[in-house]
Amino acid sequence: MSLERTTSSDAAFQTIRDWLYRETALAYPESKRSFLERRLADLVQEWGAQSLGDLWSKCLSSPAVKASVIDALTINETSFFRMPAHFQALGSLLAEFSSRRKTGILDRPRVRIWSAACATGEEPYSIAMTILAQKGQQFSAEILATDLCQQAVAKARNGCYSDWRLENLPPGYRDAFFEPAAQGIRVKPVVRDLVQFRPHNLKALPPPGPWDVIFCRNVLIYFDNAFRAELLQRLYEVMAPGGVLFVGEGETLHLVSHSFETHPVAGAVLYRRPIKE
Ligand SMILES: C[S@@+](CC[C@H](N)C(=O)[O-])C[C@H]1O[C@@H](n2cnc3c(N)ncnc32)[C@H](O)[C@@H]1O
Repeated sequence: MSLERTTSSDAAFQTIRDWLYRETALAYPESKRSFLERRLADLVQEWGAQSLGDLWSKCLSSPAVKASVIDALTINETSFFRMPAHFQALGSLLAEFSSRRKTGILDRPRVRIWSAACATGEEPYSIAMTILAQKGQQFSAEILATDLCQQAVAKARNGCYSDWRLENLPPGYRDAFFEPAAQGIRVKPVVRDLVQFRPHNLKALPPPGPWDVIFCRNVLIYFDNAFRAELLQRLYEVMAPGGVLFVGEGETLHLVSHSFETHPVAGAVLYRRPIKE
């Protein structure tokens, strides 16, 4: 559906776009205007609103409308083992944590990992499978997975996927970590039990640290430099000394954060909070 552009619909569009930015830091520049207009037009229809201005009024008075607007304006594209080099690097890091544990340096009972924009769950489940596949593992792990989009979090928690979404799995993982389900295929409980899902807006304070690993991948691209800098500083503060940050391909910290050390690995660049500052 498309909406007729009038002065009042332009004003309502601007109001919603500004509100979205204040609420979620999602910055929709003019170049993405038509995408935003299309999704808002669908929402006008879905909520039986008369106009964009009417949708905005409903949004102000109903948390359900507000959540559905936010959900509709997020892009939840993801996949299992997206950027395989990251999961190889995670395997090496886990081996490092395991030997730190043997020497008593890691003084906490669990390695703590936060997947900070987990979309529909493929990323944190890939982390969990990497942990479970680790040989001679000497630690236990806790994975917190969060996202702004409530529908994505619900789908992630359920752990059911269509068959074709499993095509990038390493050999043997499908049989080891998935089981048939009524709707497609489901992540086995041994994997699901490692991950806790929760809605979280990156505009809010991060969940309390220390985090040994943070995955914040393919979400910085939706923010402007001012918010990227603010967010990265907050992530830095909740990270354990020596903790590692994973960001998406092409999401460089250059120009927005100088706190982290770069940590090149085969096929990717990671960022590390120095052990000693
Ligand atoms: C493209 S997906 C990336 C998923 C996964 N990290 C990956 O790399 O495959 C971006 C995710 O960021 C989430 N997101 C956008 N703005 C957010 C915010 N302010 N707080 C938390 N999550 C946000 C979206 O809902 C979406 O699921």
